[in-house]
Amino acid sequence: MSTSMVTLNAQTLQREMDWLQKVINIRIQLRFPTTRSEEDALVEYQDVTQVPMPSVQQDPSVLGRIIKALDFTFEERVILALSLAPHVRPQVLDAFFLKDKIHERYYTEFGGLKGRFHSGFLPTAETAAFVIAGEDIEKRVRLIELFKPEHPFYKNNILKLNLNQGNEPLFSSGLHISDEYLTMFTSGSSYKPDFSMSFPAKRLATRLDWSDLVLDPYVLSEISEISAWIEHQKTIMDEWGLSKQLKRGYRSLFYGPPGTGKTLTACLIGKQMGLDVYRIDLSQVVSKYIGETEKNMAKIFDLAENKNWVLFFDEADALFGKRTSASDSKDRHANQEVAYLLQRVEDFSGVIILATNLKANMDIAFSRRFQTIIYFPAPNSSQRLQLWENSFRGLEVDEDVDFPYIADRHNLTGGSIINVLRFCSLAALRRGSKSVNSADIEEGIKREMQKAGKTV
Ligand SMILES: Nc1ncnc2c1ncn2[C@@H]1O[C@H](COP(=O)(O)OP(=O)(O)OP(=O)(O)O)[C@@H](O)[C@H]1O
Ligand SMILES: [Mg+2]
Repeated sequence: MSTSMVTLNAQTLQREMDWLQKVINIRIQLRFPTTRSEEDALVEYQDVTQVPMPSVQQDPSVLGRIIKALDFTFEERVILALSLAPHVRPQVLDAFFLKDKIHERYYTEFGGLKGRFHSGFLPTAETAAFVIAGEDIEKRVRLIELFKPEHPFYKNNILKLNLNQGNEPLFSSGLHISDEYLTMFTSGSSYKPDFSMSFPAKRLATRLDWSDLVLDPYVLSEISEISAWIEHQKTIMDEWGLSKQLKRGYRSLFYGPPGTGKTLTACLIGKQMGLDVYRIDLSQVVSKYIGETEKNMAKIFDLAENKNWVLFFDEADALFGKRTSASDSKDRHANQEVAYLLQRVEDFSGVIILATNLKANMDIAFSRRFQTIIYFPAPNSSQRLQLWENSFRGLEVDEDVDFPYIADRHNLTGGSIINVLRFCSLAALRRGSKSVNSADIEEGIKREMQKAGKTV
């Protein structure tokens, strides 16, 4: 029987933690020579780099393969191991609870944070600097490179610094491994986030195709610009060298009445280009997660960035609406979060689609940020006929049903027609019939009109 991925991963993590333990011990002994006992076998070490790193040449675990593929150095491995330690062997870091007897406090050079629930030591960049550089300022300064956006840690969303607010030193920021890599390094499975409090996004998919989408040709041509960008951005940015002039990424705003195909179009773009589409309901994010919004949104953007996801922000008016003059501190806070979101939207290198039913209260500063603004109109009568016929294609329909007449007479959107379809199939089923009749359809339409506050 082959060894499971979890076992392989655990073995590598064991070795890596053993190694980290040794490195930490030696650093502490180098810093406090008196802690070294006479017979201590570790005296031979002049520097932490002398502790041999566990070999990953033949290592099939996820961590092993990543270390090998990205060719991580001693410094990078220490940082990665430190960020993993609280999750896999927290006691490795207990050595940093050593107290300075003279000042009756912890040693500043150990850095570290205290968790809200975790009772152990949470490493910061300071901790890494201490372990790697000791008191060598040059080495310490060079570590900053490892936290820059160009570094594979950041680029691949492996780990990053949890930046502190305000003017505190950079190195007081926590070393934070992403949920994505933590999952891969431990259970070995790839990370498919689900909607949760900390991940307010849901993957969208559709079984429909472009041929099912009923829209005016000019709307379709505007939509095709998005796919064209996805397909050709590399050529335009890299080969034509326009990456200096043009912002990376593509932002589009979809607006129009409910049920006109905005969400469907976003799904189809993803399906066509082979990209995952994640929907984020902004009205939920902006209202419910006040205070948590930035963290949650950062998570989504970070994941989306290196996954090539299309981000679909629904109910985007929650965003425009909040840019009001701040009257109290709660409003000011919301404004701050909106500003943060806008910044991330603007900096994102993939495709972002925002959808809203209202465009009226969107300010001009905001509309400048979009490459395309696409209006999804309610369908006209010939489009409605197409929608009726497409939607009821798979169903038996009585001869008395006159779709041209229905399409002409009732001003319904594609979304409402789908609701009528659902209503009719249930009605037929209840009757013990396989066929929909015109009374079912009329009743279904009546309900849709009532929902919209209109009469037939
Ligand atoms: N233009 C269209 N062509 C084909 N089908 C459509 C169209 N518009 C809507 N539909 C059907 O209605 C369903 C719901 O539409 P969709 O969710 O895309 O509307 P929406 O514009 O996103 O609405 P909302 O503003 O309420 O979010 C679609 O899955 C599809 O079956
Ligand atoms: Mg929608």
